Amino acid sequence: MSTLPGGAPPNPLREGLRLERMPEPCTFVICGATGDLTRRKLAPALYNLMLGGYLPPEFSVVGFARRQMSDEEFRAHLRTGIDEFSRNRPVNDAVWDSFATGIEYQAGNLDDPEAYAALSARLDRIDRDRGTTGNRLFNLAVQPSLAPEVISHLGASGLARHGGGAGRGGWTRVIVEKPFGFDGASARTLIRQIGEEFEPEQVFRIDHYLGKETVQNLAVFRFGNGLFEPIWNRRYIESVQITVAETVGVEGRGEFYDQTGALRDIVQSHVLQLLAVFAMEPPVEFAARDLHDEKGKVLRAIHRPTPDEVSQMAVRGQYVAGWVAGNKVAAYRDEPEVAPDSETETYVALKLAIDSWRWAGVPFFVRTGKAMAARVTEIAVQFRRPPLALFGRDGAPAMEPNILAIRVQPDEGILIRFGAKVPGPGLTIRSVNMDFRYGSSFTVDSPDAYETLLLDAMLGDATHFTRDDAVERSWDILDPVLEAWASGRGGPVHFYGAGSWGPPAADGLLEPGGFSWRRL
Ligand code: BG6
Repeated sequence: MSTLPGGAPPNPLREGLRLERMPEPCTFVICGATGDLTRRKLAPALYNLMLGGYLPPEFSVVGFARRQMSDEEFRAHLRTGIDEFSRNRPVNDAVWDSFATGIEYQAGNLDDPEAYAALSARLDRIDRDRGTTGNRLFNLAVQPSLAPEVISHLGASGLARHGGGAGRGGWTRVIVEKPFGFDGASARTLIRQIGEEFEPEQVFRIDHYLGKETVQNLAVFRFGNGLFEPIWNRRYIESVQITVAETVGVEGRGEFYDQTGALRDIVQSHVLQLLAVFAMEPPVEFAARDLHDEKGKVLRAIHRPTPDEVSQMAVRGQYVAGWVAGNKVAAYRDEPEVAPDSETETYVALKLAIDSWRWAGVPFFVRTGKAMAARVTEIAVQFRRPPLALFGRDGAPAMEPNILAIRVQPDEGILIRFGAKVPGPGLTIRSVNMDFRYGSSFTVDSPDAYETLLLDAMLGDATHFTRDDAVERSWDILDPVLEAWASGRGGPVHFYGAGSWGPPAADGLLEPGGFSWRRL
């Protein structure tokens, strides 16, 4: 391990060219703090930020929810989440003790104005006692139906304004969690409601895929190297596949999921954001506005299907009983709180087209599913073949096309596959891999996406968040699909066995172009 000038050893948590930024003291307020998100994601992320030395000592947390709980009970609640889900375990007790001193809990009905007044008084007191200087970051960890009400109460109580409305200093920001609406119309309503209480620069819409290290590396891969960008277009790329496959089922969220489905849950947010980062033009600067502008252009250029086109570009599926990694999985319809005749899709595959100079004619195949054979998220590029086939003539098998696969998770890395001569007499060509793996190239683990994004929000950096226009535009692309399915015009629900790669009907999207899904 190298040593920094001046003899100081490098901090292993801060390897590489990362710019270190420490947020100002602030209070992180979790609205709906007793839910699953807090234990699974928020508490472990905040703890790991503390452990890495990224948070100032004044940093404070207030849980705000209906359930009656003491500060001590809330701390214990967070601690169980960290013990169970933190990427760094066992928990460092010294770090936890110092983190825990700044954790409090405010019980109150989220529809009761008095609860917000009490919250406001508590935040003022924390500002005085702990020196958080009026800086507040609200996280809306509430169920989607409650979000508008919480937003309007934050506004009415003055809490949405900078300085808590008390005319003092300090900033106020709000992190809004998925889902961003249920369709285009409800998303626009939600955006308007938030806009009535918060200025655009206060709002941080979290799409945790944008916080994943491998997704953030995608822009660096494209624009930080001279090698790839010249071939990142229709002249060299024949097709693109994006896969977000999960082995889990609905994980006890049957009620939510049955009203949501894979298209709303994963495609509207994660998949379209991955696609936008993959396909965007180079931004003028690597800054929030420029990135959002460029991603917005990609989303605007994606062809919006007509109702008649939907069955040609979309396939939906639902899993039936099967085996995933040696475990028996019940059919989706047998999950608790799922309708026994549910038509909700747990799998979706789409063929998308981007009508732009860079991408015209290049099909983008995307697929996502629950209870699939493996957990894997990747973006794979298939390159065109050389203009003249010098090899693979005379009945020899045709050479495979070159592939570049960006493995987002779990086996993070980038793979390039190309043809090479097999050693020995004769001329046999076989595809080989050039493989970059995070695990062997770097000595530190990737942070969880929530760590990166919560820190960015505390720093006021919206680069890796989703702007309103992207949300609206994503729904514009997908609303026709949802409408066609709802009216029975978009093709049936195809069943697939849990533990498979989805319904064979999805192959039909690729076959006319001579393509096939990657075997992962
Ligand atoms: C969430 C979805 O946004 O992403 C879940 O609501 C899904 O249904 C999850 O399981 C997947 O996230 P990750 O980081 O595990 O790929």
